[in-house]
Parts: sequence; structure tokens; C-alpha cells
Amino acid sequence: MAITNSLKHAVFQLLLFFFFSFHALFSHAAYSIIGKTTVIRDDLGGGNLVSEDLTFEMGFFGFDNSSRYVGIWYHNVPASAAAYIWVANRERPIRDRRGSIKIKDDGNLVVLDGDNNEVWSSKVTINAKNNTKAVLRNDGNLVLSEEDKDVWHSFEHPIDTFVPGMMLPARTGMGMFKSWKSATDPSPGNYSMGADSGGTIQILILDGDKRRWRSGYWDGRVFTGVSNMTGTSLFGFKLNQGNDKVGEYFTYMWNSPGEHVRFQITWDGFEKRFQWDKDDKKWIETQHEPYNKCEQYNTCGSFAVCDIASHPFCSCMQGFEPKHWEEWNSGNWSRGCARRTPLKAERANNSSGTEASVGEDDFLEQKCTKLPDFARLESPDDDGDCKSYCLKNISCTAYSFTIGIGCMIWYGELLDIQHTQNNLGNVLHIRLADAELDHREKKTKIGIIIVAVVGGLICLGIVVLLVWRFKRKRKVSSALGYNNSSDPQLFDLTRSTDLSTEFSGSTELGLEGNRLNGAELPWFNFSCIVAVTNNFSEENKLGQGGFGPVYKGKLPGGEEVAVKRLSKKSSQGLEEFKNEMMLITKLQHRNLVKLLGCSIQGEEKILVYEYLPNKSLDHFLFDPVKQTQLDWTKRFEIIEGIARGLLYLHRDSRLRIIHRDLKASNILLDENMNPKISDFGLARIFGGNQNEANTNRVVGTYGYMSPEYAMEGLFSVKSDVYSFGVLLLEIMSGRKNTSFRDTEESSLIGYAWHLWSEQRVMELVDPSIQDSTPKSEALRFIHIGMLCVQDSASRRPNMSSVLLMLGSESTALPLPKQPLLLTSSMRKYDDRESYSEGLDVSNDLTVSMVTGR
Ligand SMILES: *[C@@H]1O[C@H](CO)[C@@H](O)[C@H](O)[C@H]1NC(C)=O
Ligand SMILES: *[C@@H]1O[C@H](CO)[C@@H](O)[C@H](O)[C@H]1NC(C)=O
Ligand SMILES: *[C@@H]1O[C@H](CO)[C@@H](O)[C@H](O)[C@H]1NC(C)=O
Ligand SMILES: *[C@@H]1O[C@H](CO)[C@@H](O)[C@H](O)[C@H]1NC(C)=O
Ligand SMILES: *[C@@H]1O[C@H](CO)[C@@H](O)[C@H](O)[C@H]1NC(C)=O
Ligand SMILES: *[C@@H]1O[C@H](CO)[C@@H](O)[C@H](O)[C@H]1NC(C)=O
Ligand SMILES: *[C@@H]1O[C@H](CO)[C@@H](O)[C@H](O)[C@H]1NC(C)=O
Ligand SMILES: *[C@@H]1O[C@H](CO)[C@@H](O)[C@H](O)[C@H]1NC(C)=O
Repeated sequence: MAITNSLKHAVFQLLLFFFFSFHALFSHAAYSIIGKTTVIRDDLGGGNLVSEDLTFEMGFFGFDNSSRYVGIWYHNVPASAAAYIWVANRERPIRDRRGSIKIKDDGNLVVLDGDNNEVWSSKVTINAKNNTKAVLRNDGNLVLSEEDKDVWHSFEHPIDTFVPGMMLPARTGMGMFKSWKSATDPSPGNYSMGADSGGTIQILILDGDKRRWRSGYWDGRVFTGVSNMTGTSLFGFKLNQGNDKVGEYFTYMWNSPGEHVRFQITWDGFEKRFQWDKDDKKWIETQHEPYNKCEQYNTCGSFAVCDIASHPFCSCMQGFEPKHWEEWNSGNWSRGCARRTPLKAERANNSSGTEASVGEDDFLEQKCTKLPDFARLESPDDDGDCKSYCLKNISCTAYSFTIGIGCMIWYGELLDIQHTQNNLGNVLHIRLADAELDHREKKTKIGIIIVAVVGGLICLGIVVLLVWRFKRKRKVSSALGYNNSSDPQLFDLTRSTDLSTEFSGSTELGLEGNRLNGAELPWFNFSCIVAVTNNFSEENKLGQGGFGPVYKGKLPGGEEVAVKRLSKKSSQGLEEFKNEMMLITKLQHRNLVKLLGCSIQGEEKILVYEYLPNKSLDHFLFDPVKQTQLDWTKRFEIIEGIARGLLYLHRDSRLRIIHRDLKASNILLDENMNPKISDFGLARIFGGNQNEANTNRVVGTYGYMSPEYAMEGLFSVKSDVYSFGVLLLEIMSGRKNTSFRDTEESSLIGYAWHLWSEQRVMELVDPSIQDSTPKSEALRFIHIGMLCVQDSASRRPNMSSVLLMLGSESTALPLPKQPLLLTSSMRKYDDRESYSEGLDVSNDLTVSMVTGR
């Protein structure tokens, strides 16, 4: 019995063996390498070159038997959905099925037709001719190498498709990808795509040599003209520094490796992003450009704005009028618009003297704009300087100072401008003659006066009426006690500016010009604040911040706000406070908590902020349960977001603010867990007057204060960098810097150094993310953290270097020195405030003071 069983088994196995050998023999097992003797033939079918992980395949394809091509496609995607990421002989199809692929005697990879004519060759000069081989890599790159040196890459000769792993030159890649002629004809068509070869970085689609679409400028994160585009350093497009041989180039990082994503310039002229849906077995189109009329290049002509949400799409910019009214009104916008009132310089040229001397040119701010084409990048590094740079040159017609790009200047006509939806886009400042601006301002001024006079009269009437009624009522009902009037006029919410226009800047920032007049700061009626916070009740209290308690409130419109009641110790006078608030309201960045307005009544000073439901970072980071919600990707994004917000405060905002109290509890998280820095600028209010005796407020928090600030009272942007370093180490480790108080380690920094010096840095990483965190990134981040907490301010990087280091794996990092001045010696300082301004220090510390300009 047992014998027969095992015999059966053996026979079965033998059969199985034969079956598979047979199968292999006749199905031409795929090659993994093309060597000296390998030949891939079209007429045999199946015997193709396949990448090691079976993602990509190279071989013959065609849409009929009389045009055969050699190409690369996804091996595991069914033929009905085949996508060809590369084609060798796109211009010389083989007319029958007798073609072959092999390595020629000169070492090159070639495609031959049935008569052994060469229809395609890799065309490189090869030394070790007998030792070349071709391999299809897992990312789809076909590589020819001699011995151990790569001599040719298909990725360097792209067709119409960009896949992760390719390098796209950021400044010279124009026309790098060329569309197919039709859906079934790979020969070069009318359309091409690539990076603009001008000075600013953007992607273009060309129709012949005419521009058809552009992506808008790269701002370090996204292409600013592409809607719905998000990005981090973790995935999405990334700009790499390059070297002497290769200039800057883009790469694309796909967040889940192994999935298929590709960008293609299709035969009919669209840039499309496709993503493979494994379950439904089909490609999903996740991007499609240009996707409407306004996206098409320069639909409206020069000096006109295209807005897809309005009808007609095109309108001249303010101060401009159609060049040809009839054509314009009939919907032919191609000629665009012209300036109505000449600029000052032009008026001066036409002499008559007196007229010219009146009125300087000024700028009209236009938010939510896809910036015009042909920007020139100039050197000024803040908004104000950029503006004066533009004013100096008579041919400058507009400027924009944009975070992540810098000062952009336009000379001559402004082309391809779009009004963007959903508050995306940037701020453009358009140069106009004085008269065009005056015109508008005079009108609004008159409007304001009328409104004010009428409003004043009405208010007076109401007050008189109310007082009269109140007095009468009191007479009647004084026995009932206080009459809790909820008369709408008394509790009306007044905000002097319309928030929707005031705060609808781009998502990145909405920098105002320097017209800082009182009317721009929204004031809230104090009684309204009392009402929405339920008279600052305990239930509404969200927490106690460094400068006073914070309450939650709900405005009559339903908008939730956080109300900060500044502690009364602030020594600032009313005017100073107003000025300060006006400046702070101007600071807008996606990583800063938005200040909506403020309110003053007697000693009370109230700040009204946007409300963020997710509380602050410390609630998550130091909570054993909640900290698991912060996976590595989230932490990465939080660290990067904080760095960006801080960089904005330090460098990119017009105020150059030093936060001085950066810590986990001052980082708020929005519903998507994006970090937003809060309490920025308050140090200016409380710290501005160090001469005042009653400024007994702590600025800075134990554990986050740099040695020079804690011990000598010196603060600079580098003291914020120190706090950032501590915060970074806390985010990586999930531990509070101060939780080391009573252990053998003096602090988190000491502990980090300890592990660092013993090369056990990974032990610092929060156990809840240790497995999911790429080691190289964890090491780099902790390394950066260590550099930020160096004792000597001059050894700490500034925030823009920090951002660079966070984003780039290739940047070589300097080695940190052992921190000696550990925070234990600073504990005494946390109950006393001490800082000084204007002091210079010996250790080449740059004290860049907070200066409001
Ligand atoms: C193409 O050639 C293959 C094999 O030579 C053959 O089986 C097929 O029928 C041909 N197709 C057409 C459309 O002629
Ligand atoms: C390459 O191979 C050919 C034929 O096999 C041989 O004649 C020749 O000497 C080889 N060349 C080198 C450089 O090895
Ligand atoms: C390409 O351009 C030619 C000539 O302008 C035109 O006839 C053809 O229709 C265009 N092809 C596509 C796909 O747009
Ligand atoms: C952007 O997102 C919105 C909402 O998710 C969607 O309606 C819109 O079509 C998207 N736009 C593009 C160009 O994908
Ligand atoms: C629009 O006007 C231009 C001249 O400004 C003319 O060349 C073009 O043919 C017109 N287009 C249409 C569609 O009428
Ligand atoms: C001023 O006039 C001169 C000479 O007529 C001319 O060359 C120049 O371009 C003019 N400048 C402007 C701004 O119109
Ligand atoms: C200047 O004068 C010339 C000729 O008188 C006129 O054509 C031109 O429009 C004027 N330019 C401006 C800006 O007024
Ligand atoms: C204005 O800018 C243009 C373009 O850069 C330049 O050619 C011209 O010389 C500048 N003019 C002045 C007066 O600076």
C-alpha cells in the first residue's frame, strides 16, 4: 500500500517535471539579460527581456503586422491596457515580423529588420566590445553596460513618457518628451513637453514651437499653476541640485513603490498622469493638462486675465482696455489689452512737463493669480526691495515676491495670466499710472466717507433711541434687577474689513504692500468677544498659553475661533499695540496660525485666531496612545512644515520675526495634522520694552532656550534654530526634552549625543515608528537636530540650510560638536526674563534683531 502510494507520487512528480520542461521549451522563457549570443526575435514571440522583479518587459510590439516596433511596457499589465514607456525605432518601423534584437560586434544594442538592416542602434562607442550586455532594470530603464560601466540608458532617450526614476533637467529639458503621431503611431507628433529653458523653472507643453500649456513656476514644493498639486519632500516632484555635468533636475518620488505611475504627453497634446489600479485592472487618469480653456496658453492675450468661473472668461486687467473693442466683444481675445493711462516715464517723454510731474506709478495687487509667463528672477530678497527694483526700471510692468522663488520681475507685456480657483495661486503686483489707482481710491474714499457719515448718523440715532428706551425700561423694571438685554446692535460684531478679501491671499502667503493703515486690521467688538466666549467661562477655556489663557468661541456666522486673552501685564500702549497687531496680521503662511483680528477694551487685549480642532503637537507627541497616530510620514511633514513656517518668520516675511518661544505646545495641528506655529510675534509685544519695570513675563521656555539666550539674554534667529533642534529631537524620539530632569542624562540633547557618539542613534527614535522609519532618514534628521542644538550659535545652521538638509539626502552634513552647556545649568533662568538688544558678541554670533520696518 505504502509502496504504491509513493510510486504514484514519484510518477506524478515526474509528469510535473516533464510538463514544466516542455512548457519552458516552447514558450521561450523570458531573458533577464541580453548578452553576446542572445537574440530576441519577433516571429518567435514571448522570448522577451524582462526586469528582475517582473515589472517591465522589452520586446516587439505593433498595432498590425506591417509596422513592428521595439519597446518597453509593463509586464504585468494586460495587453489590452498596454502602456509603452519607451520605443526604440519609433521612426523606422519594421514592415514584417522578421525583426530581431541583439548586440552587434561593435558592442551596441541594435534592432535589425528581416534582411539584417539596422533600423535602430544605441550608437555609443564601446571599448570592451566583447563584454557588453543589456539589462532591463526594475524601474524600466534599459541599460547597456560594458564590463561594469554603464554606457547607455534608455532613460536618457525618453519618448513620450516620464516614469519615476528618470531625471528631468529643470532648465534645459524643453521638448524632451515628444508625443506619438497618433494612438497607434509612435513616430514623433506635433506636441512636446519638458522644462522651460528660461531662467525660471516651469514645465511646458509645446505645439510645434508654440506654447500650449505651462505648469506655473516651481516654488520648491509644487508647480504653482497646477491645481490640486500637493507635495512634500517625501514624495511628488523634487528638485535636485545636480553637479557640473548635470544641472538641476527633477525626479519623481512615488509614495508606494511597486505601483505604476507615469506621466505622458499624449498624441492629442495633453499631459496626463496615469496610475494603475490593481483591483480594477485599469489605468486611472489623475491629471490632465490643459484641462480647460483658461489653462490653454494665453487664451486672453496680453494684459488680460482668464477666469474660468466668469463669463466671458477673459477680462482686461484693471487699468487696461481691449486693443480692439469689436474683436474683443465678439470673443476673439487674441490681441489682448493695452494700458489706458501711460506710466509716468512715458508721459514725461511726451513732454508738456507739468502733467508728467504729477503722481508716481504704483502697484495694484492681484491675488489668486497664475503668474504671467517670462518672469525674470532678480536679486532683491524681500517684498519691499522687489517693488523698488521694479519701480526703478521703466520697462518693468509687474513684480511678485513669492516664497520659495523670490523676486520675479516682468518686463513688457504680461502674458497667460489666470485667476485661479479655490484660493490657490500667487500675488501679482501690476504697475499702473497714478491716475488709474487714484481713480479707484478716490472712489472708495468717497464711498467710505458716505458710509461713515450715514452709518454714524444711524448709530447715533440708535444709541439715542436705545438710551431712551433703556432708561424708560429701567424705570419700569428696576425691581426685576439687571435687564439682560441682547439687543443685536449692542452685541453686533464689527470687523472693519471684509475678511473674505483681506485674507484670501494665496495659500502660501498673502503679503500686503506697505499700505499699513488702520483700516486694514479687523477689530472685534469687545462685548462680542465676551458673548462668544460665554464671558471667558471655564468650559470654553482651551488652555493656558505663554501669554495668557485661550478660549474657544463661535462667531454668529458659525465660524469657530480661538480667543487669546493677553495677560494684563503687557506694558504696551494702545497705539504701539495696534501697530504691532497690524504687522502681525500681515504674516500669512500655511504653517502659521492665522490671526483674524483683535479687540481692546481698557486693560483687556484680545487676539482672535483661527480655531484648530486638533490641539497642539504635545498632545500627540507625548501621549503613549496618541503618538502612534504620528507615523513617520506625518512626523516628516510636521518637521518640514515647522521649518518652513520658521523660515518664513525669519527671512521671508517683511518683519523678520524671531519667535523666541518655539515649543511643542506652540505647534498647533489642523484637521489634516498640518503643523501651524502659534504665538509668533508676541515676544515683540511683551519683549519690546525691556526697560519697563513691569515686563516680568517669561519669554522662552525651559528646555527650549539656547544657552546664549538663557544665560546672557542674547537672542537671534539662531536661538530659534536651537529651539527647533530641540523640537526636532522631541518629534523623532517622542520624548520631552525636560523628561530627563532626574535621570543620569542631563537632557534629551545629552542623551542624543551619548547615543550619537556610540553610533546607536536609532535607539533614540520613538519605538512606535522605529520599524517604519527609513534608517538613513532618521539618521539624517537626528544629525540635523544635533547641528541645530550646538552650543555656539555660529555653528548652528540657519533655517534655509535646515530646510535644504531636510529635503536632500545628498547634502553633506558637518559633524556636530559635543554639547557641553547642557540645559541643567539654565534652570534658574526660567523665572526671570532677561534679554538685550543691540549687543554684539565676541563669538561671531550674528544678533539679527527684530526690526519692524
Ligand atoms: C500577424 O502575424 C501573426 C503571426 O505571423 C498572425 O498569426 C496574424 O494573423 C497576423 N495578423 C494579421 C492581422 O495579419
Ligand atoms: C572578441 O571576440 C572575437 C571573436 O570571438 C575575438 O576574435 C576577439 O579577439 C575578441 N576581442 C577581444 C578584445 O577580446
Ligand atoms: C499636427 O499638425 C498638422 C499640421 O499642422 C495637423 O494637420 C495635424 O492635425 C496635427 N495633428 C494633431 C494630432 O493635432
Ligand atoms: C481639484 O479638486 C477638486 C475637488 O477635489 C475637483 O473638483 C477638481 O476637478 C480638481 N481639479 C483638477 C484639475 O483635478
Ligand atoms: C482673431 O483676430 C486675429 C487678428 O487680431 C485674426 O488673425 C484671427 O483670425 C481672429 N480669429 C478668429 C477666430 O476670428
Ligand atoms: C522716449 O523718447 C525716446 C525718443 O523719442 C524714445 O527712444 C524712448 O523709447 C521713449 N521712452 C519711452 C518710455 O517712451
Ligand atoms: C506721445 O506722443 C505721440 C505723438 O504725439 C503719441 O502717438 C503717443 O501716443 C503719445 N504717447 C503717450 C504715452 O501719450
Ligand atoms: C530695464 O530692464 C531691461 C531688461 O532687463 C534692461 O535691458 C534695461 O537696461 C533696464 N533699464 C534700466 C534703465 O535699468
